Amino acid sequence: MTASPITSARPTPIDPLRESLDEPLSQPTEAEFRQMADEIVRWTARHLATLPEQHIGLTGTPEELRQLLPTNAPETGRGFVGLFADVREKLFPHAFRNNHPRFLAFIPAWPSAESIQGEWLTAATNFYGGIWLEGSGPAHIENTVIGWFRDWLGLPETTKGVLTAGGSEANLTALVVARESLTSDERNRSVIYLSAERHWSVDKALMVIGHPPERIRHVPTDGQFRFNVPALARAIQKDQQAGLRPWVVVGNAGATNTGTVDPLNELAEVAREFGLWFHVDAAYGWSGMLDPDERPAFAGIEKAGSVTLDPHKWFAQPYESGCLLAREGHRLPATFADRPDYLDDAAPAEGETNYADHGLSLSRRFRAFKIWFAVQSLGVGWHRQLVTRCCRLAAYAENVLRSRPEFEILCPRQLGIVCFRYHRSGVEHDWDTLNRRILADLRNSGLGFLSSTRLSGTLAIRMCFVNGRTTATDIDRLIDFLALAGEQAERADDAG
Ligand SMILES: Cc1ncc(COP(=O)(O)O)c(C=O)c1O
Repeated sequence: MTASPITSARPTPIDPLRESLDEPLSQPTEAEFRQMADEIVRWTARHLATLPEQHIGLTGTPEELRQLLPTNAPETGRGFVGLFADVREKLFPHAFRNNHPRFLAFIPAWPSAESIQGEWLTAATNFYGGIWLEGSGPAHIENTVIGWFRDWLGLPETTKGVLTAGGSEANLTALVVARESLTSDERNRSVIYLSAERHWSVDKALMVIGHPPERIRHVPTDGQFRFNVPALARAIQKDQQAGLRPWVVVGNAGATNTGTVDPLNELAEVAREFGLWFHVDAAYGWSGMLDPDERPAFAGIEKAGSVTLDPHKWFAQPYESGCLLAREGHRLPATFADRPDYLDDAAPAEGETNYADHGLSLSRRFRAFKIWFAVQSLGVGWHRQLVTRCCRLAAYAENVLRSRPEFEILCPRQLGIVCFRYHRSGVEHDWDTLNRRILADLRNSGLGFLSSTRLSGTLAIRMCFVNGRTTATDIDRLIDFLALAGEQAERADDAG
């Protein structure tokens, strides 16, 4: 049957219609574009150069922000000059500078100048990173970058991957692929094993794929916040005896709280023995493998079925830069490839990769470019120096804290993270509340930003180092501030 042609309901005389379309929609001329871009580049260069002296950032109330930046969408555009002034003066102060050398909260980010340039070109070209036919150059570069990651982690040649928006998407992608390895009967009996220190994005991924909470096992950690492997083996055996199907075990290579790397070799061995998929969440810690001193702790990662790693954490990349590697790479297109009619032309030929077939996104930017551009421009050695430096910064912070009686180390340095609290033994205070107050004082001072977590029920302050501009002086200044704020908080507590 032949399709009938689509006819317009109201035929338009062709000449006036043509005339109305003869000029493109208004846009800046080349000179105007350059002028605006120059201003943005000038501002950026100054912003980056002056970060250490800048206030670390403000949190506005919803009302303050509504007053500063009205929420209406103007019918007629305002033009660049006034708008950019508002952006600089009203919007940007209300975001913490997570690339500030004294921003050591959560997991900070510190994009290199080269990765920022890569990001700029990625947006400016907007080349498509989903199918080989349209973006063979981008797909080749994604192959290249994924090949680097595979080799750095020691995974086999069969490994393939996909660049994602971040670690949460990578963890979700891993679980979707792992689930495909189960029969439908097994899916109804599948059990996943998580350490108490896993990142909550794994729980979120399980919720998204509809995995029932009663088939999630939370295995305790040992005294060093590492996966308790004997407890894992016991839990698996118990589930097997109950007729369930032990399915996935998720290990950490750089736990978010403490930087701890799980005993990956032992986890891999248990996974092999009982036939589980071994997923390693290395979103934060993976770059640690570039440092020869840290690398031995990761032994066993090369046995993983899949690994999550985030270049936007400790590899000097802007958000959003994540990655999933899958050991049996063919499972990625087997899970995600789909070919609707309108993509018929896009089927890859032998040896070509459609990255849209490796994950969730169809429309995807040229995610590999900024990583490739930065590594080509700076070298792997520069990135290795960054990792080594951050581990040394964390070791320095730990040493200074240990030398001062008003601080207690709650978890010694692991990779680039150290956990501690302000505490004087023999003195009565609600130390959790007092430490929270110290952190708020620091934030409000504009000097720096540290965040807290809970370790074995105790509130801990974390320092997480990913920033190549952080110096020993920054650490001294932060610790001096915390000591002084702690003393004042103790006095206020005594008085109140
Ligand atoms: C260990 C770990 N896994 C996963 C994630 C989630 O990654 P993203 O924030 O890139 O989605 C994080 C984020 O901090 C993390 O530390």
